[in-house]
Amino acid sequence: MKVNVKNHTMMYPAPAVVASAYDENGNADACTLAFATMCSHHPPAVMIAINTTLKRKTLKSILHSKEFCLAYPSVEHAAEVDYLGIESGYNEDKLAKINFTHQKGEKVNAPIINDFKVSVECKVMHIAEIGSHTQITGEIVNVQADEDVITNNKIDFLKLNPLAYDDITHSYYNTGEKIGDAFKIGLKYKK
Ligand SMILES: Cc1cc2nc3c(=O)[nH]c(=O)nc-3n(C[C@H](O)[C@H](O)[C@H](O)COP(=O)(O)O)c2cc1C
Repeated sequence: MKVNVKNHTMMYPAPAVVASAYDENGNADACTLAFATMCSHHPPAVMIAINTTLKRKTLKSILHSKEFCLAYPSVEHAAEVDYLGIESGYNEDKLAKINFTHQKGEKVNAPIINDFKVSVECKVMHIAEIGSHTQITGEIVNVQADEDVITNNKIDFLKLNPLAYDDITHSYYNTGEKIGDAFKIGLKYKK
């Protein structure tokens, strides 16, 4: 039997990623986002959504610079990711507080956070106001990954061990094991 539960913004699995940008004074901002997903192959693009009240310093910085980086954290950095999501750059130099370093991206004027193993560099393509949030689409113009998460020149999901997030219970999760090959395990139904 199915039951109705409370309406809630939800997606499974959802990530916990970190968006970063420089503010108008060149200081690096970074905040944690669960509202983030892929949205185009050509050009490669991702979209993020940030609460529109400019209480989020990172949103103000992205709207100002029109460029941002998105880091895909590993499970080992859950506490640092959480901190970046519960403190504001208006109050603290958050990256310094957790001893994370950053440098300008290769293709964008936005900070790459060195301690995260995979980051994409994005140029803002499109901005839309969606209810409470500002949805920002970014064209991915460069991808950087640490060698230790690469297998055969590709990012290895299991080596990265990306952090997953459940907004219903406000919990972080491992993403688990490989269970099959996409575009293959369904072929048995295609005959
Ligand atoms: C797990 C997690 C997920 C979050 N996801 C979002 C999100 O998708 N959009 C958003 O606007 N804020 C999100 N937040 C809240 C911001 O990260 C938080 O308000 C942060 O302090 C903003 O920092 P800033 O002012 O330095 O930009 C999330 C926080 C956590 C802990």
